[in-house]
Amino acid sequence: MTTYITTPIYYVNAQPHLGHAYTTIVADTYSRFRRLTGDTVRFQTGTDEHGDKIAEAADKEDCSPKEYVDRISEMFRTTWPLLDIKPDNFIRTTDKDHVATVQSILQQVYDKGDIYFDKYTGLYCTGCERFLTEKELVEGTCPDHKTVPDEIAEENYFFRMSRYQQDLIDHINANPDFITPERYKNEVLSFLSEPLEDLCISRPTSRLTWGIPLPFDEKFVTYVWFDALINYLTGIGYPDDDQFAGYWDVAEHVIAKDILKPHAIYWPTMILSMGLPLYKKLHVHGYWNVDETKMSKSIGNVIRPAELIEEYGVDSIRYFCLREMSFGLDASFSFDAVVARKNSDLANDLGNLYSRTTAMLVKYTDGVVPAPVRVDDDTVLADLAGTVLVTYQETMNTFQFHRSLQAVWELISQANKYIVTNEPWALVKDTERIGRLHTVLYNLAETLRLLTLLLQPVMPGTCVKMAKGLGLAANSPLVTDLANNGCWGMLAAGTGLQKIDALFPRMDTKKKQQSVKQESKKKNKEKKNRNKQAPETIEGVISFDQFQKVQLRVAEIIAAEPVKKSDRLLKLTVKAPEERVIVAGIAGHYQPEDLLGMLVLIVANLKPVKLMGIESQGMVLAAKVEENGKTRLVLSTVCAPVPPGSGVA
Ligand code: MSP
Repeated sequence: MTTYITTPIYYVNAQPHLGHAYTTIVADTYSRFRRLTGDTVRFQTGTDEHGDKIAEAADKEDCSPKEYVDRISEMFRTTWPLLDIKPDNFIRTTDKDHVATVQSILQQVYDKGDIYFDKYTGLYCTGCERFLTEKELVEGTCPDHKTVPDEIAEENYFFRMSRYQQDLIDHINANPDFITPERYKNEVLSFLSEPLEDLCISRPTSRLTWGIPLPFDEKFVTYVWFDALINYLTGIGYPDDDQFAGYWDVAEHVIAKDILKPHAIYWPTMILSMGLPLYKKLHVHGYWNVDETKMSKSIGNVIRPAELIEEYGVDSIRYFCLREMSFGLDASFSFDAVVARKNSDLANDLGNLYSRTTAMLVKYTDGVVPAPVRVDDDTVLADLAGTVLVTYQETMNTFQFHRSLQAVWELISQANKYIVTNEPWALVKDTERIGRLHTVLYNLAETLRLLTLLLQPVMPGTCVKMAKGLGLAANSPLVTDLANNGCWGMLAAGTGLQKIDALFPRMDTKKKQQSVKQESKKKNKEKKNRNKQAPETIEGVISFDQFQKVQLRVAEIIAAEPVKKSDRLLKLTVKAPEERVIVAGIAGHYQPEDLLGMLVLIVANLKPVKLMGIESQGMVLAAKVEENGKTRLVLSTVCAPVPPGSGVA
């Protein structure tokens, strides 16, 4: 099979940011996934370089539009490899062959009678690069750019979009997957329930010269959307290239909701006028906000991919983006959320499973994958892998990446539990149970092999390491061929492991705080400090066994008083359920009387210590918040009443 996947071509009036990165990561992940299934894939991205916006941006920078677009386009081109994004084609609308094809399409549509000349007065939004209808305005302003559109009256060329309205409605109804998720299909159908106005597709050269000249009237240049959308055809050699039809038949576009109308209405009607079959699918995702706020230059919260990668690593960012956003809905970016995903999902769940399994293989079977014995008795991981494989493929094919990753993480979590329940460290001590040990270790190694295969599209770099550690070449079919090896039991016994570094070393929290501070200096100082502070994280990784040694309990504070000669300490008497005294450094944060009856969390098995002459039998847990150079402690508590002494799971 063949896959042709595209991103929008990005305007070069801004440098690449998280939003552009997300769409392009999605397209890259999908293209890698389709390759795993054996498809021939073409993945295209690029830059949109004509129009008012770009001319204005070049003007501001005092350079010619060409110089300007060359520079910014290059920034996009060089950003993608940093994110391990590998497009097969990077198209620019200033490419000569694109310009020539746009002109020949314009001529063809004009000759057909679908373009006419007329006078028009309309409300033009420079941000959207299009005329807005009265209905679209919110309190007289563009809902996206919050600016009042300019009223412009001029003679222009128009594309008879209305002529194809019914055909488009019929196509959408007959092909339920044409626009997904469904909410966007419904939005488009609702828009199409009103009569469509024809589309103004020219700009007089008196107003704009930075565009493709109309072939039938040199006093006009093409409207930027008419030029830009055609990139999806020119990039695959329309009209003459032999490969064109094969790719066009299966074209899938990925966009965000901001450009739904041009892609779901202008573009299909243009294609129908050209007499071509419609593209196969339009995948529409939501918007990334930052700490619940719109990402924007003026707020100063624009997230740059290069900075993220330096801070967290490419694969953590790719994983975060795909896991955190439910495709179709808006999502909120925060540094804390990245750290949480990295430390919990990647370092703890995946990283630990990998390191524990490979360490046990090295220790118990000399680094060689053993042959399983009596496999039929133990199919727990194999069975789960079977269902995960089905869900994974279904959801990857339908752009529900967060669900694909949830499914994969079920397998990871089950495999971690499998280690605890099967206790390989006990099996190895019992000569009669060595066969069982081999089965357990084989199952774990095979799980790692499948994980390497399934995570390839999302975290390609990590999977190269994972494959290497399992003694497999990065391009081994065992980890790159889902069609033939996407089933249980393909890893050969006898495979020898290789030593690799930890997959996700813990991040340097201090470094992160520093760069967050720099960022926050720019704008909204206080707000940003509050939102982006890194949580305090423990420095060293501890094992689950070590963690289990810490006894956490709920305790009720039944008495509290200041400790003499200390302005930091309070003496707390708690019930946990036995009565005990804990000396806590919370005096500056709580009044003793406020604490009575509070149910707090304590560490119950700490060795007692004497503080200011009082024996403290435990420790109270509190969140430590850094604000404006000061520390604030907030006691951790439970959100519903429970008996004092309850354990903490
Ligand atoms: N040049 C047009 C597209 C022409 S395609 C024939 C354009 N360019 S753009 O630079 O504004 O890119 C818009 C796209 O960038 C969105 O559709 C989306 O893919 C991505 N994003 C930009 N900001 C975004 C967010 N805040 N969140 C998610 N994606 C966003 O429109």
